[in-house]
Amino acid sequence: MGLVTMKYEMMKAIKGGYAVPAFNFFSYDNLVGIAKAAAEKKSPVIAMATMSGFKVMGEHGVVKMAEGVAADYGINLVLHMDHCTDIDMIKRCVDNGFTSVMIDSSKKEYNENVEDTCRVVEYAAKYGVTVESELGHVGGKEDDIVVDDMSVLFTDPEYALDFVKTTGIDCLAVAVGTVHGFYKAKPKLDFPRISAINKLLPNTPLVLHGGTGVPYDDFREAIRRGVRKINVGTELKVHGVFDTCVAGFNSPDAKQDPRAVSKMVINKVASICSEIIDVMGSEGKAG
Ligand code: 13P
Repeated sequence: MGLVTMKYEMMKAIKGGYAVPAFNFFSYDNLVGIAKAAAEKKSPVIAMATMSGFKVMGEHGVVKMAEGVAADYGINLVLHMDHCTDIDMIKRCVDNGFTSVMIDSSKKEYNENVEDTCRVVEYAAKYGVTVESELGHVGGKEDDIVVDDMSVLFTDPEYALDFVKTTGIDCLAVAVGTVHGFYKAKPKLDFPRISAINKLLPNTPLVLHGGTGVPYDDFREAIRRGVRKINVGTELKVHGVFDTCVAGFNSPDAKQDPRAVSKMVINKVASICSEIIDVMGSEGKAG
């Protein structure tokens, strides 16, 4: 019970043929809702801070919050820094107790992406912290990173093999047709590409970003083909937290008591996470 590395959960997921759900959190209630669902479903779970969330919630506060929530719910929790473009910030995450980090230099040239990723792997390895990196560009807007439609670039399997071998990363984020944020049209995942990458890298967990709005059958097919971590953020941020707060603060039931709204957020986030855990096949796989 407590904070565990992502690598630990990924290795179990590869063996078990399921995916570990990875949820972004933007507030304390949001994080508690994630932990509640994981505890009820006995599922492994990855809680992902963002660069802007890290600044708002505080560098030490985020870690203490995650440790406390894991202890309160008696669960193993991976505390992951998502899409970090700032290597100094990543180092501070590692120093402060994060168990997993993502370096995102995917918008840079291939060689620079390799170079940045190697620097992070070298630093994280000293502390046993897991490293994820992205190759190709997942479209849409994530935190302050925007990739317009013209810049979306799918992950090339041969480059992926070279990237993983050269950098020594633990998990590879792939661009295979998903985008961050709400979809303008039905997502179209490139399943053969997932299989091709997985064939070359059978022991490297593949990460699917942009989970909000992806049909559940597409999740299942991606998992069947080697995806072992699926990221969901916007659904929790907008429907789980924001909409629930707006409705909650305007509801007579709240009686001007913010704790009532906190409970509503926790329950709404937990119900969204539970549904996603069912699709991941990770229920009962904790421990
Ligand atoms: P969504 O916000 O589209 O669910 O994507 C989340 C994500 O991929 C975080 O890295």
